[in-house]
Amino acid sequence: MASKKISREAPEGFDQSWLACRAPYDQEARSEHLATLAYETVTQAEYQIVMDLGCGSGNNVAFLSARWPGVQTWLGVDHDPALVAAATLRFADGKPEFEGLVADLLDLGELLGERQPAVLIANAVFDLFTQDMMAEILEVLSISRTPLLSTLLYTGMVWEDALPDDGWVIGQYEAHMMRQRPSGRGLGPKAPEVIAQLVEALGGTLRSEPSLWRVPASDQHLQGHLLRFMEGSVPEMLSDAASQQRFLSWLTARRATPSVCTVHHLDQWITW
Ligand SMILES: C[S@@+](CC[C@H](N)C(=O)[O-])C[C@H]1O[C@@H](n2cnc3c(N)ncnc32)[C@H](O)[C@@H]1O
Repeated sequence: MASKKISREAPEGFDQSWLACRAPYDQEARSEHLATLAYETVTQAEYQIVMDLGCGSGNNVAFLSARWPGVQTWLGVDHDPALVAAATLRFADGKPEFEGLVADLLDLGELLGERQPAVLIANAVFDLFTQDMMAEILEVLSISRTPLLSTLLYTGMVWEDALPDDGWVIGQYEAHMMRQRPSGRGLGPKAPEVIAQLVEALGGTLRSEPSLWRVPASDQHLQGHLLRFMEGSVPEMLSDAASQQRFLSWLTARRATPSVCTVHHLDQWITW
């Protein structure tokens, strides 16, 4: 078991309107092939329990429970009590049978000790993690031989109608994802690559498939969320007034130039 002491981080406080807004794009993007492999594993297990890591308000459970009949219990783990409460309320009618757990994923070893799921699922979670956090989690999975379907890991983005500073701003945005935090540097777009290396070192098998969003220019809601994330993060990475001004000029121009935005992600299916 990894022995490193990793700092626990407070919940980021994900906005439920953002999670609801991205859900249809996630559903459209996900690899059907990898989800089928994961479901086959569930159907062969003695106890058909699925645990959703970083469950948020329950989007991943809502999507897969409609496609994976026969799962007895869906467990949802998140360190944000407000999101676990929202997911619990969403499935209060027992469709599907859902149990929400407020816990940090760094305590996954203890959680798996209490209840061994057939398969773990996680949607849009591990690009938020650091290398040490990811190493800790994958080591727990390799010891318990628990498979994981991890979907929608961010790897990059591009606007079709490009502006000269798009690349510079996206670079700053990704640098913010990978900024130093108490538990190390965030993985951001490097998450799939780092996860693949860690899985290989632990003797596991990983299959990977793209899962990309194509956000039309007309979807001002989702495009607005993306630009607000940039507005809230990129200035933290810029040390001088000229760069701040350059960013604000870009933001104004980007808002005035509606364009299709492609956001690249990868899905990964990990077995032991
Ligand atoms: C981008 S949201 C995705 C939520 C959900 N999976 C979905 O698809 O809508 C990432 C989620 O991971 C949770 N999370 C991040 N770090 C965590 C940790 N260390 N322990 C537990 N949950 C965590 C956040 O609270 C948040 O709900």
